[in-house]
Amino acid sequence: MSTHNACVERAREAFSRVFGTRVTHAASAPGRVNLIGEHTDYTGGYVLPIAIDLRCAAVGKTNEVRPGWRVHSADLGETVEFDPHAEPDQLPGGSWARYVAGVAAELIKLGWNPPPIELCVASDVPLGGGLSSSAALGVATATVLESMCGRTLSAVDKALLCQRAEQAWAGVPCGVMDQMAAIMSRQGHALLIDCRDLTIEHVPMPSESDAALVVFNTNVRHALAAGEYARRRAACERAVRVLGVKSLRDVTIARIDAAATALSEVERRCARHVVTENQRTVAAANALRSGDLAEFGRLMSQSHASLRDDMSVSCQELDTLVEFASACEGVYGARMTGAGFGGCAIALIEPSKCASATETIAVGYRQRCGRDCSIIPARASAGACPVTV
Ligand code: GLA
Repeated sequence: MSTHNACVERAREAFSRVFGTRVTHAASAPGRVNLIGEHTDYTGGYVLPIAIDLRCAAVGKTNEVRPGWRVHSADLGETVEFDPHAEPDQLPGGSWARYVAGVAAELIKLGWNPPPIELCVASDVPLGGGLSSSAALGVATATVLESMCGRTLSAVDKALLCQRAEQAWAGVPCGVMDQMAAIMSRQGHALLIDCRDLTIEHVPMPSESDAALVVFNTNVRHALAAGEYARRRAACERAVRVLGVKSLRDVTIARIDAAATALSEVERRCARHVVTENQRTVAAANALRSGDLAEFGRLMSQSHASLRDDMSVSCQELDTLVEFASACEGVYGARMTGAGFGGCAIALIEPSKCASATETIAVGYRQRCGRDCSIIPARASAGACPVTV
């Protein structure tokens, strides 16, 4: 049974047990890894993620008899009751259910009028591991609610709605990459997103006989992650204001250097990362189109160096994975992926060298960091979809 169906089955089974009835609607949405284009989405830059074949399922049924919304997590064994018409502060802070409630609340704000609903969610995306488990949860919820309401949003509107839900209800000032990737990805393709006008292009990924993409989860998430993400975003936004542009895409490194006295050291470095990362992302998409994996790998490694040295969002665990990967024969390139401060790194590897490189990286990581990393082979997968029940 594919992963796709496995999480739907788990959610469906838990739903029957908890709510004592059968689901009428189901949907699933994938996690993602970003190949390149990191910390560029929130200033209108380029990103190049893929959806992975780990998914989150949301299944449900309306309940006109009992008022109130209820959602159960099959993974955590927890049921939360919420009122999507209420303000976000009425749900306990930090609750996973805020992602679900936020999506319902945003749909109601758009004028949708769903009846009380019971939902169950189950995820194969590791929670809090930097593979966008939260966007998968929000998008799976939006997709099942679309089916239940018999209405649909455009893909971009749905991504923006899920982003607003995450910002307002979970308090995360995220960009829109993760939601777009969870919705619009196509199997076998990377998704080039221009975050200024939200246009997309599906760029074919190399075939499995040409390259393997492996995700290494550090299995650490540093506590400062959320605060540091918000600080980096604020630094980039201040640089945009000081430089008098709409997006850091409109500036050159020379212009940043010329404005050095008006920018703090952190703002200057963050802006430099974003400018160079946008250039690398465009170049990486070109390399992918022309099948130049060596060039793609070089750009990945340069991206990691910039995230480590200019953006300052890496950490010892991520640097260790990338260092060992870069020293292995057959590795085209490696980098951290996602917001940073823990989570995952990715490596693009020649298939014949994949097993030995993966082993070397995992052993090196264990010896240096004193813990195991998890290894997840990644295949570019399809975005969210309703599932027939
Ligand atoms: C998180 C956010 C995204 C993006 C990345 C960094 O995943 O949710 O919007 O900003 O970090 O590239």
